[in-house]
This record gives sequence, C-alpha cells and structure tokens, in this order.
Amino acid sequence: MNPFTYYNPTRLHFGEGQLKQLPGEAAKLGKRVLLVYGGGSIKRNGLYEQVLAKLDEAGCTVTELSGVEPNPRLSTVHRGAELCRSESIDWVLAVGGGSTIDCAKAIIISAKYEGSFWDVVTRKAKPEAALPLGTVLTLAATGSEMNSGSVITNQDTLEKHGWGNVLAYPTFSILDPAFTASAPKDHTVYGMVDMMAHVLEQYFHHDANTPVQDGFCETILRTVIATAPGLVNDLTNVKLRETILYCGTMALNGTLSMGVIGDWANHDMEHAVSAVYDIPHGGGLAILFPNWMNYVVEDNVGRFKQFAVNVFGVNAEGKGDLEVAREGIAKLREFWNSIGAPSRLADYEIDDSRLEEMAEKTTGSGTRGNFRKLTKEDVVAIYRLSL
Ligand code: NZQ
Ligand code: ZN
Repeated sequence: MNPFTYYNPTRLHFGEGQLKQLPGEAAKLGKRVLLVYGGGSIKRNGLYEQVLAKLDEAGCTVTELSGVEPNPRLSTVHRGAELCRSESIDWVLAVGGGSTIDCAKAIIISAKYEGSFWDVVTRKAKPEAALPLGTVLTLAATGSEMNSGSVITNQDTLEKHGWGNVLAYPTFSILDPAFTASAPKDHTVYGMVDMMAHVLEQYFHHDANTPVQDGFCETILRTVIATAPGLVNDLTNVKLRETILYCGTMALNGTLSMGVIGDWANHDMEHAVSAVYDIPHGGGLAILFPNWMNYVVEDNVGRFKQFAVNVFGVNAEGKGDLEVAREGIAKLREFWNSIGAPSRLADYEIDDSRLEEMAEKTTGSGTRGNFRKLTKEDVVAIYRLSL
C-alpha cells in the first residue's frame, strides 16, 4: 500500500425520496441558480417538474441550460459560463447523467475564468475559483456525482480529455434510484460496464498488501455481475436500480484508489475513440478492456488469476495460472456480451483507417497507463485486437 491522503467533501443524499433535501441545500447556496440538463429525458420522466417545484420552494430564480450532449462539448461549457456571468448566477444544479454533471463541473470553473476552458483541460491554466455545484443524478455510471473529475470534448480539434480539480467536487449530490428507472437498456448497460471498468482500472496495479482494497473491488464487481442480468430484463425495478446506483458511486469516489496506483489506460484509449467517432463511453470500454487484459496479462499473472477466482469463481484446480487468468478474461467478455454490450469496434462501424490517429491522441509523445506503460504501438495493437 502507498501512503495516501483522502478527501471527499461531497454531501451524498442517497435513496428514495431524497429530493426532499434539495430546498435545504439550495438555501445554503443562493437564490440564482443555473439548471443544467441534457437532451430532455428529465422532461419525459417528470423529474424536471419535481426539481423546479423544489427550487421554487427554496425561493430560487432559475436560468436554464439544456441540450448538454452525451460526451459534452467545450462550446456548451462556454455557453453555460456566459449565462453564469450574464445572469449573476450563485450556483449551478446539474440534473442528469455523467455528461451533464461533467459539463456543469466545467461551467462552474469556466464562469470564473476569462480564457478558454480548454486551457484548464490541457493544464495550461490552474483554476483559482468556482461557483458551487449541486447534482441530481439520473444514470448510474460515471461516479461524477461524487468525484472531482470531468471529461470534455473539443469538437474543433476532435480531442476528448479528462481533467480534475478539487474545486469541481459537487457540494451535494442527490441520488434517488427511482430517477434512474427510465434509463433505456443501452445506456443502463453502458453505465454498468463503465462502473466495472472504473473498478478494474483501480484493481489492476502492482502494489502489495491491499487486501481491503481488493475486497472492496471484488465485492462491487460481483454485485454488478449478480444484479445486471435481472436489471436488463426489468429496467424499472427500483431495488435493482438502487444496488447498481450505489455500485456506480462507490466505484469512483476515491474509496478504491486509496493506497494504490491505478492504471487508466483503457479510459485514455476509449476517450480517443469517443473523440473521433462520438460513441458511448461504456460501449467503447466494453470493446477495449478485455483486449487490453489479454495484452498485458503476463505482466502480473497472479493479479489476473485472483480476478478470475474471486470475481468469476473460476476453478483453478489442476490448471496453470495463465490458463486461469485467461479464463477470467474470457468470462468478463462473455458477461458483457450477455447483457448486450458491444464487443468489437466494427459494432460501431469503426474500421482500421484511423487507429494511428487515435493512438497518437492516447499517448501523445509519451506512454499511457501504469500497469504497463503503453506506447503508441501498443495502443495500435490493442485497437487492432478490437476491430
Ligand atoms: O441527455 P438526456 O436526454 O438526459 O439523455 C441521456 C443521454 O442520452 C440518457 N439518460 C440519462 N439518464 C436517463 C436517461 N434517459 C432516460 N432516463 C434517465 N434517467 O442517457 C444518455 C447518456 O447520458 P450520459 O450522461 O452521456 O451518460 P454517462 O452518465 O454514461 O456519462 C458519459 C460521460 O461521462 C464521461 C464519459 O467520458 C462521457 O463523456 N465520464 C466521466 C467520468 C467522471 N466525471 O468521473 C468518468 C468516466 O470514466 C467517464 O469518462
Ligand atoms: Zn469511465
């Protein structure tokens, strides 16, 4: 285990009926609020009206920014920041999935920064101030509701990058599983793949003496594996939604990364694919992750064997470690296929014409990942395995 400092200031209101907390939270943050949401799912499922009623109860004046794209764009961030300035906004409320929350995280900082927000994403500028942010989550997936990260796409340069800052933690997040019950099957599946991928990014490391972290990771993975098949056949089951919602938040709120150095190459490789082809993040991860695993398995066979045995219950008796490890990877692919996740880039009609370009976006002039430091050539090879 490595030495670490843990800090997470987000107040989490979890469970059915927790929207009742919104007026109290709003009262602490100010009267003028920017309500940020996506393409309209919150209007179709009735959440929009409920949120407006609670903001009204708190005496808030609401300005709206709608139409945040899945894979949110820099131009939308700038639109939101401009609204914050012109309407003298006190705080921002994001109601939606990870894209809406990520966009709102960028808006709260962009509102206080005169230049292009891309300077912050590319670490050319260090943010000094931000408006407060609250969130109401509608999709179990990214963990953005309780972390300080965000991912923004620059449409002009076809780049998609994560950035993070302590100023970007939501002040509060409201998670009611009933609000996630209208999510369609495809995005529900992408979300479950994404949260599993977050666990895997933190599970595959070379640090020693991490039994508690391993146990947390394995529990979340086993829970998603046990819950997902029921949920994809019963999308409005709020109890199953509740379990998955909790998994998604715990997968990326900093708990699992205490004392370990995670990998994260799969996320970088996927962001490059999404940047060029605008595919759903979880879909891209489902395609790439098992291929990365097969590519690097021999760097730490023991870790992959532990994954196979503890997560998928692979019987190791009489088998070599590598055989067990590869069986675990095959089980993961099988599981993701079984819930309807894509398994090949061809599923999104992506061919080999832009692999080099995506690999270049992934590694730049350096390497990506910690489990194995992937070069551009490694990334091309993994993309090729994924065709
Ligand atoms: O836009 P609306 O109309 O709201 O529809 C959304 C969108 O079309 C829909 N949806 C969400 N909740 C729904 C619903 N439809 C019906 N009922 C509901 N309750 O689902 C679609 C996808 O939403 P989106 O927010 O894009 O999905 P997700 O939460 O998976 O977010 C993906 C984005 O997050 C980034 C990804 O790269 C991607 O840009 N990530 C952010 C991370 C973070 N901040 O920590 C980490 C992740 O690894 C990830 O990279
Ligand atoms: Zn992710």
